[in-house]
Formats: sequence, C-alpha cells, structure tokens
Amino acid sequence: MHKVLIIGAGGVGGVVAHKCAMAPQVFGDIVLASRTQSRCDAIAAQIAELHGRTITTARVDADDVAQTAALIRKLQPSLVVNVALPYQDLPLMDACLDAGVDYLDTANYEPPDVAKFEYKWQWAYRERFEKAGLMALLGSGFDPGVTNVFCAYARDHLFDTIETIDIVDCNAGSHGHPFATNFNPEINIREVTARGKYWEKGEWKEIDPMSISEVIDYPGVGPKKSYLIYHEELESLVQHIPGLQRIRFWMTFGDEYLTHLRVLQNVGMTRIDPVEFQGQKIVPIQFLKALLPDPASLAQNYTGKTSIGCIIEGKKDGKARKVFIYNVCDHHECWKEVRAQAVSYTTGVPAAVGAEMMVTGTWKRAGVWHMEQMDSVPFLERLGASGLPWHVQEM
Ligand SMILES: NC(=O)c1ccc[n+]([C@@H]2O[C@H](COP(=O)([O-])OP(=O)(O)OC[C@H]3O[C@@H](n4cnc5c(N)ncnc54)[C@H](OP(=O)(O)O)[C@@H]3O)[C@@H](O)[C@H]2O)c1
Repeated sequence: MHKVLIIGAGGVGGVVAHKCAMAPQVFGDIVLASRTQSRCDAIAAQIAELHGRTITTARVDADDVAQTAALIRKLQPSLVVNVALPYQDLPLMDACLDAGVDYLDTANYEPPDVAKFEYKWQWAYRERFEKAGLMALLGSGFDPGVTNVFCAYARDHLFDTIETIDIVDCNAGSHGHPFATNFNPEINIREVTARGKYWEKGEWKEIDPMSISEVIDYPGVGPKKSYLIYHEELESLVQHIPGLQRIRFWMTFGDEYLTHLRVLQNVGMTRIDPVEFQGQKIVPIQFLKALLPDPASLAQNYTGKTSIGCIIEGKKDGKARKVFIYNVCDHHECWKEVRAQAVSYTTGVPAAVGAEMMVTGTWKRAGVWHMEQMDSVPFLERLGASGLPWHVQEM
C-alpha cells in the first residue's frame, strides 16, 4: 500500500483524490494539497461521505520549490501527482528531484507570459531524473494521456505499420451557461486561440486558428463539426510511432462558444500580457477567469456525453486497416460517482491509473517518459475497470 501526494484541488484534482480513495488496495494513504486548503477540505468531506475514507489535506504554494520539497520530505509519499496548472510543472519537477520522489502530470509546461505548448522545457529534465533514479511521467490525462496509450496499443497490437492518426475530441454535453470552459479557463482559452498545427510527411504545417473544420461521426454522440487545433501529444507521438505520415487533432466547439470567444478576442479579453488598469497592471485573461464559472461548479447540472478517441489507418498483414479506438463518458454518471463532470473525470481517472502503474512498479523507469513509451496493456486493463471502458471499432 502506497502514499500519494496529489497537488491541485480543482475539477481534475477532485477526481484523482476520489479515484485513489476508491482503490484502497493500492493507495493506503492519500494527501491532497493545494494553494487554497478549503477546497481540499471540501473534497475530503465528499470522499468521506461517498466512499467512507479519510484523506489528509494540506496547503502548499507549488510555485515555491523549497516549500513543496519540505512538504514532500515531511510526508514521504511514493509519488507526487501534479494536477495544479501547467505553470507549476517545472517547480514541481524541481521539488521532486530535491526531495527524491517520482512525478506525474497531465499537461505540458507553459510559460505564463507566452502561449507555447512544447515539451522542450520538461525534456530538459531527462538527465537529472535518470541520474537520480526517479521517474517523471508526462501527460497522464485523456488527451494527452489515454490517446497516447491508444496509439501505443494500435502500434504494438493492431497494426504492422501506422500511416495516419486523427485524434478526435467531442464534448456533446450541456452545462446550461451561455459561455464556460470545461477545465481551467485560462489554460483552455490559451489552447484554443493559438494557431492550429499538424504534422505531415516529416514537417509541421501551421494554419490560422479554427480555419479547418470537418464533420466527424463520434460514437455514442453522432456527427459533429470539429476543428483542427494543435495539441501537445502530437509532439511526442511523431517521435514514437514509426512510419507515421500524418497526425492531426480535432475538437468540437458549439457555435455559441465560438461566437463568445470571437467577441472576447476582438475586445482584448483573452490577452495574456499585462495592461494598465486604474493605476495597476492586470492580465485580461486572468480577470476573465475570475468572472467565468469555476469548471468544477458545472458538474451538478451537466448532461450529455463526451466521446474521445483515435482514428488510425495503416496496414496489417499486407491489408489496409482503419480502426476507431474510443471512450464515451456520461457527465451525469460522473457526478453521481465522484461529483465531477466528464471532462474532469476523463482526465482524473487516467491520472489515478497512471499513478497506480507507477507506485506498483508496473511502469518504472528512471527518466522523463511519455505514455506511449510504456506497455499499454496493463494501463488499458485498469482504465476500463476504473470507469473508462474503451472500444475498438473496425471501420
Ligand atoms: N490531459 C488532459 O486530458 C487534460 C484535460 C483537462 C485538464 N488538464 C489539466 O489538468 C490540470 C487541472 O485542471 P483543472 O480543470 O482541475 O483546473 P482548476 O479547476 O483551475 O484547478 C487547478 C487547481 O490548482 C491549484 N493551483 C493553482 N496554482 C497553484 C499553486 N501555485 N500551488 C498550488 N496549487 C495551485 C488551484 O488552486 P486555487 O483553488 O487556489 O485556485 C486549483 O485548485 C491543468 O493542468 C489542466 O491543463 C488536462
């Protein structure tokens, strides 16, 4: 039985804490720490009520490496699960190195002042983690995360060669607000307003934001207009799927969402640089975040489903093959089980399963690793059993 330290008490952090509490045979001791301790306490109270387990809570500023390393030393966990924000990735990796503990996250590092989605900052830690004999597992959410594992499973078990991959992400749910984001608003808006990018025949191709769309038929949901955007898992997958000729990422957005976003962009509310306001500097996107609904608060009245997966084409035994590997998740079922909506759930469950792979030694390698570099089978077995059943459909 292992002790896990979860950092970040938002929508995703709540799901990770619930799911670890629901696996007492693996996680004997759970600590949830965040910047605002009252949010950890509220999650702890839900866990006691729903699953009859007591978890410990703590306050930590994860930007402060010395403070986090001191907390890790005091608690002596087997693993730190980072489900705070991408800005905390590097300080938390530093704190893990300092205190000598393994690390897992769900989103790649972004510098606060530039909307850049690149692994280079975290890849620069490879040698330090290797030398320390510690493991850092990057991107153990759904996308990145499960989508990387679906690609690894296809590479190792379904195909001789993979030619194209389309990662497709649909949230067909309804939360009843005219405009809200399903995970941290600042991170979400930075992602969807960035220029689109995909990889074809060895090079990256850039496009204007939301300038390419297609209708994709999502299992469990039906046909939905989807937009080509850049997503971080493309950067590692092009390195780890041999023979790949093209990889793209598609996400659905409703017309209402896009209209609000366009207006907010046009008036400058999505800017990430500080502006002068009444004698002080404010960052418009941070102010906007303060006005928008907290993603965790959307959960109670959310209805509908998410459908996320990978459409993969290639060759098997000399014949063309095309498969769709996917999961469908129901917002209201997530609320009933762990008081979350499906976007938090589909991220938090794979984080808890990744944590289980690491603490049990099923996945154990010194260095900095991506999900598709690990054995997909034990992860996928536990994923299905933990609430995210997955399916392979021949197309
Ligand atoms: N891979 C995927 O599929 C996927 C999908 C969705 C989200 N994500 C990632 O999951 C992570 C969590 O998302 P979320 O929707 O749960 O976000 P959220 O609701 O905004 O929660 C973030 C939490 O982190 C805490 N935090 C922020 N800065 C901190 C600091 N310096 N020290 C300690 N705690 C700090 C916040 O504390 P306060 O309560 O004090 O603000 C909050 O509790 C993000 O990195 C997001 O990008 C990944």
